[in-house]
Amino acid sequence: MTSGGDSAGMNPAIKCCVEFARKQGFIPYLVYDGLRGLIDDQIFEADRERCSGILHRGGTFLRSSRSKRFFDIQFRQQAYENLQRRGIGQMIVIGGDGSFNALNQFYSDFGVPFAGIPATIDNDIAGTDYCLGVDTALNMIRQSVDSIRDTATSFSRAFVIEVMGRHCGYLAMVSALSSGAEICLIPELPYDLDKIGARLMEEKKHGRSYVLAIVAEGTRMSEPLTRWLTDSMNMDARLTVLGHVQRGGSPTVHDRIMAYKFSVGAVTALLEGQTNAIMTYKDGTFGTLPIDQVTSSRYRIDPDLLKLCSPLAC
Ligand code: F6P
Repeated sequence: MTSGGDSAGMNPAIKCCVEFARKQGFIPYLVYDGLRGLIDDQIFEADRERCSGILHRGGTFLRSSRSKRFFDIQFRQQAYENLQRRGIGQMIVIGGDGSFNALNQFYSDFGVPFAGIPATIDNDIAGTDYCLGVDTALNMIRQSVDSIRDTATSFSRAFVIEVMGRHCGYLAMVSALSSGAEICLIPELPYDLDKIGARLMEEKKHGRSYVLAIVAEGTRMSEPLTRWLTDSMNMDARLTVLGHVQRGGSPTVHDRIMAYKFSVGAVTALLEGQTNAIMTYKDGTFGTLPIDQVTSSRYRIDPDLLKLCSPLAC
């Protein structure tokens, strides 16, 4: 099952989970439409035809949802009966921590073990350095920023580019560093507009004609910063909100390979009898963490990357 915000890499993960599970002797099923489909019985055996030709596609061919009904025990009971009728005793969910929590509640209610594969462009799940879809989203952003730079230089303009990430600044930070932006505002770093202003003025004296600023949506600073660039920096400034384009696109090679590794890990965790393991990739090593450890701590951005990024906020 895929659940929550879709991300590139979900389709390769579904394919690998199905194929690897079958090799291990399981009969794999697919839940369409996320938690909503679990309640509404959108569950089908994963025959070969359903899972072919999906590897290169963005999003999730199983579709996804954020279901409020799943908070209600009556609907979870309905979901459990759907599984029971088919003899389904274990689940793999590909999504974010909201989806993991939902399945953990389901496990507490009915004892259905699950394994979680982290997949969200926000890269905000504690215990893992990587979530499926991040590399593809970063490449989509890079392509857009490169295009915006072309017009920014041609018109000597300032551009504020807002990127997704919910409360996490990872996408903005890595995008700013990899595209050579002049300004980066993220929730994890304090910023100082006076200092940024003094720095830009100095650079303008030495010939700077355009400015690129990458802003994480979680700061809510995109519009104020655009106004500030116009009013205080005296520049012709424009705001581009990249939006859902960041969630789409064919998964990159990195996302496909990570999907395979996480999927083999998830099936193996279930085979080993783990009941609520979340797949992790930490300091270059694949592993698992129990859900409680994932949800009880906050994701922290790599401090070395933050240090590199901090000059862009002052
Ligand atoms: O969690 C993924 C994400 O794309 C966030 O970056 C963003 O804030 C949110 O989902 C957008 O949600 P929706 O697709 O419901 O508008």
